[in-house]
Amino acid sequence: MLIAAVARNGVIGAEGGIPWHLPADFAHFKSTTLGHTLVMGRATYDSIGRPLPGRTTIVLTRDPSWSAEGVLVADSLPAALALAADLPGDVFVAGGAQVYAEALPLADEQVISEVDAEPAGDAFYPAFDPGVWREVSREPHEGFTVVRRERVTPRPIEVVAWSASWSVLFAGLADDLRAALADIPGARVEHVGSTSVPGLAAKPVLDVDIVVDRAHVAAAVAALAAVGYVHRGDLGVTGRQAFLAPDTAPRRHVYICESGTLNLRNHLAVRDVLRRRPDLRHEYAAVKLALAADPAMDIDAYLAGKTAVLQKVLAESDLTTEELAQIRGLNDPAG
Ligand SMILES: NC(=O)c1ccc[n+]([C@@H]2O[C@H](COP(=O)([O-])OP(=O)(O)OC[C@H]3O[C@@H](n4cnc5c(N)ncnc54)[C@H](OP(=O)(O)O)[C@@H]3O)[C@@H](O)[C@H]2O)c1
Repeated sequence: MLIAAVARNGVIGAEGGIPWHLPADFAHFKSTTLGHTLVMGRATYDSIGRPLPGRTTIVLTRDPSWSAEGVLVADSLPAALALAADLPGDVFVAGGAQVYAEALPLADEQVISEVDAEPAGDAFYPAFDPGVWREVSREPHEGFTVVRRERVTPRPIEVVAWSASWSVLFAGLADDLRAALADIPGARVEHVGSTSVPGLAAKPVLDVDIVVDRAHVAAAVAALAAVGYVHRGDLGVTGRQAFLAPDTAPRRHVYICESGTLNLRNHLAVRDVLRRRPDLRHEYAAVKLALAADPAMDIDAYLAGKTAVLQKVLAESDLTTEELAQIRGLNDPAG
């Protein structure tokens, strides 16, 4: 979410500072962001000069030697967002101009104090398409109005900060699936994909692999059909059966996977390595967020763009070099 104070002419700053004095807007900023994480550019941090109390501050800088007491440092916006995903609370991008411009394509909400002034300035809020952003509330104050907007059209690839609710949703879903599969010997319900890795930014859709021995696949397919799942066949992936869920709460992809197949081992290996390796988790999240920020991104380019970092992740698993090559070919057929 972006939070900013913007004058009628788009100005947000002048000569490194803010060209107005509105204590009530500072109070609004404080009450909105307390307990959450702030992401800000190094210039904005310098203008404030200290970490704001009650919030975690992540400062963006390309200078590897930069540090300040009490703040976290990131060398790119995706890296900052990946860092923030591990922290409690919401993430507020708090400027300045460079950082707002980079973050806007990734944001789903903006909280803007529209300031009743037209001061001279040298830092501006980025232009945004009113067709893409819907106003959801408007709160007048003396000298400014707080306007909240949310994105109307979803981004082509939706990647959001990890949510603890995904574990809870998976637990409930897994209970239902285990009940449906009670008669299938040895059936296992595995939470895979990015929502299964605490702290990892993800598409907000649960990926569920139901693992059964080959001999029980047909019975498992019938058991899911009996509770309303629509069987879609293997969709070209050998050893994996895809389904349409009977409802969308939670949003999910459910597959029956034959135990031991490469596709299944790939999913489990990525999950297990990312769960135990925060460095790779951050790198992977940064790559995903950077790809998702591209408004022209499509799903094929997105999958291909993740291949290199996923290979790095899988290199830490027990998959063989030959298996890694096979997976690379599947993820990025053109690569
Ligand atoms: N009205 C408001 O709500 C509001 C809010 C915030 C700020 N402001 C104002 O905005 C002005 C500052 O804006 P600004 O655009 O000049 O500076 P800024 O966005 O605050 O900071 C720019 C600096 O952040 C770092 N940075 C930016 N993008 C980065 C990236 N992708 N990766 C790594 N580092 C990155 C670089 O630091 P290094 O140079 O160290 O590499 C860059 O020089 C000030 O006047 C401030 O008062 C107004």
